[in-house]
Amino acid sequence: MSQFLSNCTADAMASAVKHLIAGDLVAFPTETVYGLGADASNAKAVARIYSVKGRPNDHPLIVHIASMERMGDWASEVPEYAIALARKFWPGPMTLVLKRSELAGDFVTGGQDTVGVRVPDHVVALALLEAFEKVGGKGVAAPSANRFGHVSPTTAAAVVEELADHLSKDDLVLDGGACAVGVESTIIDCTGLLPRVLRPGALSTAMIEEATGLNAVSVDGVDAIRVSGSLENHYAPAAKVLLCEVPIVGQGFIAHKDIETPSGVIRLASPIDDEEFAQMLYSALREADARGLAEVVVVQPIGVGIGVAIRDRLARAANGR
Ligand code: TXA
Ligand code: MG
Repeated sequence: MSQFLSNCTADAMASAVKHLIAGDLVAFPTETVYGLGADASNAKAVARIYSVKGRPNDHPLIVHIASMERMGDWASEVPEYAIALARKFWPGPMTLVLKRSELAGDFVTGGQDTVGVRVPDHVVALALLEAFEKVGGKGVAAPSANRFGHVSPTTAAAVVEELADHLSKDDLVLDGGACAVGVESTIIDCTGLLPRVLRPGALSTAMIEEATGLNAVSVDGVDAIRVSGSLENHYAPAAKVLLCEVPIVGQGFIAHKDIETPSGVIRLASPIDDEEFAQMLYSALREADARGLAEVVVVQPIGVGIGVAIRDRLARAANGR
């Protein structure tokens, strides 16, 4: 077992909180992907997230909070439709971008006048956030716990694989098993009259429109350039990802269970539906790298729910690093 890994007993949680207070990093599971956490009000601790990830420091981080009651700590303005979204979907795979409060320093927001906040739906994440708030913590800043541009980790082992060489001895990785959703949260900009989807996730546009009674605008590319997850080459394994090809001998293959594996092709995942596709995708891409495969062919799901998020990530992964 890695020196960083910790299971999630009550003692481990108390110790994790001590590490956050001391300015160390604590990686933790959420329902989407694992996050690399630091005390969101500690500039020095947050700076370490950027260096461990190798991420440019003008890319904003998401602040994780234990409940929607804490939104007002981080945001100076919360429109009614954002409250409706928070009520309906938190805890859950949704990040709201709001006008920031004074607490949200440039070191968390990448210098933008907005802040991303999220209440994750995972017992370990919520236990950590609640215990941290009990001792006066305001929130935990956490990007996905991978090196910049790589595939997000959906298990504690994947976090260790990504970051062990960059963490210091006082940092921790909480092991909470495999993530249930598997792709990152839906990011919704709530600073305008209408909600704008900056990054698709498990929460679909239709769900947002139903909860708010408003039209949701989808933003693509240039406009959302500061959303690092919207860079064209992101979420990429070392193997080349091919989306529109018939696999040949020696290539990896990810496709719905109903699609047969051509002979000589290495099947990496056979999900039964789009939800399972999302759950399995990142670990299957990691498996391709672990096996040293040069290329992986993926047959994309066609669904309009989480399928949109899967196709978004695959398109970026296919652009390579
Ligand atoms: O599911 C998730 O969102 C995971 C888990 C750990 O919560 N987190 C995650 O963080 O994916 P990260 O940093 O890898 O991606 C968050 C995205 C980044 O692309 C960032 O640019 C964007 O959120 N973001 C954060 N704050 C923002 C803001 N104020 N305005 C626009 N985009 C923002
Ligand atoms: Mg990320």
